[in-house]
Amino acid sequence: MKINHLHYRSIWLQSDALVQIFDQCRFPHEIELMDLRSMEDCARAIRDMHVRGAPLIGATAAWGMYFAVREAPEGVEFEAHIRQAAEYLNATRPTAVDLFRALRLMQEQLANAGGKENKIVQARQTAQFIADESAEQCRMIGEHGLPLIEAISAAKAGNPVNILTHCNAGWLACVDYGTATAPIYAAFDKGIPVHVWVDETRPLNQGARLTAFELQQHGVPHTVITDNAGGHLMQHGLVDLVITGTDRTTRCGDVANKIGTYLKALAAKDNAVPFYVALPSSTIDWSMRDGVAEIPIEERSATEVQYIQGWKNGKIEQVLLTPPGSPAANYGFDVTPARLITGLVTERGICEASEAGLTALFPEI
Ligand code: MRU
Repeated sequence: MKINHLHYRSIWLQSDALVQIFDQCRFPHEIELMDLRSMEDCARAIRDMHVRGAPLIGATAAWGMYFAVREAPEGVEFEAHIRQAAEYLNATRPTAVDLFRALRLMQEQLANAGGKENKIVQARQTAQFIADESAEQCRMIGEHGLPLIEAISAAKAGNPVNILTHCNAGWLACVDYGTATAPIYAAFDKGIPVHVWVDETRPLNQGARLTAFELQQHGVPHTVITDNAGGHLMQHGLVDLVITGTDRTTRCGDVANKIGTYLKALAAKDNAVPFYVALPSSTIDWSMRDGVAEIPIEERSATEVQYIQGWKNGKIEQVLLTPPGSPAANYGFDVTPARLITGLVTERGICEASEAGLTALFPEI
C-alpha cells in the first residue's frame, strides 16, 4: 500500500542482515523505519507492538527465526538454540494464532535442511514465503469481499456505502492490503463510493492512528468515531456493513478480535446490519471449537489505559487520564461468537461462520 504515493509493505528484508518495519508506536505523527537485526529485535518489536496485527506478527516472528538461525552456534548446540528462539518468540503475544503457525512452519522447513548455510537459505526462503503468502491472501480477501460492497452500493443507487471497522485490520496489520480493509480498497479503486466509520479503538487507538492514516493515504473518505458510537449510528441507519479482522478464528467460526468487537457485533445483530469478519486462513485455529472458553485473551499493562499518547508541540507525548493510583484493567481482545457473524471473508471465498462453512472452503483440513 502507499505512503505519500510510494508503495510499501509493512515488513521487508532490506539486506541479508537487516529487516525493516515501520515503527507503528509512532504512527501517524512520525513515519519512521525501524531496523530489526536480530531475533531479539524481532521479539521486542512484537512484544512492544512496534508491529502488531495477526498476519504481521506472524511474518515478524518468521524473520525472527531467520535471525535465530544466523545467530545459532554451529555444532551440538545448534538445534537447542533454534528451539529456544522459537519458544522465546512464541511467548511474545498470546492471542494471534499466526504467530504460532509461522513458528511451526519455520521449524518444519528448517528440519528439512542440513547444515547451517542450508538452514539459513531455507529460513530466508520460508520467511519470505510467509510474507508473500500473507500479501496474496489479503489481495484475494479483497476480491472476494468486493461483491458485498458492490451489492449494497447497487441497492443504495450509488450513494456511499457506510462501512464500520474496528481497530486496524489494514495493511499495517498485515503485510499488504489488510484483511477488513482489502474489500474497501478494492471497492474504492473500482470507483464505488464508500465511507468508513473508524472506531478509535482505545487504549492504543489503532483505529484513530493507523486505520485513519491508511485510509487517508489511499484517499478513502472516513470519519473517526469514539468506540461507543457504533450502536447509535446503526440505530439511525448510518452503517450499511461492518467488517473487522480477527486474531484467532475457531474451527466453528468464533473470532477473537480487538476488545470491543463483540459489542459491535451485538449492536449489528440488533439493528440487522451485516457483520462480516475478514481473515486469511493463517488466523484459523483448527484445534479450537469454543472461542469464549478456549482462546487465550491477552492482558496488557494498565498504563496503556491510564495514559494516552498524542502529538503536542511537535513531539509525541503521553498524558495521564485517570486519577493517579486508580487501578486499570487492560483486556486486549474479546470473542465474537459465530452466531453474531453474517459471514467470513477468506482468501478462498465467503462462508458461513461455522465448522461446515469453514471446512467446505478448506476441505484439506
Ligand atoms: O493488538 P493488535 O493491534 O495486534 O490487534 C490487532 C487486531 O485486533 C486486528 O483487528 C487483527 O489482528 C486482525 S489484523 C488483520
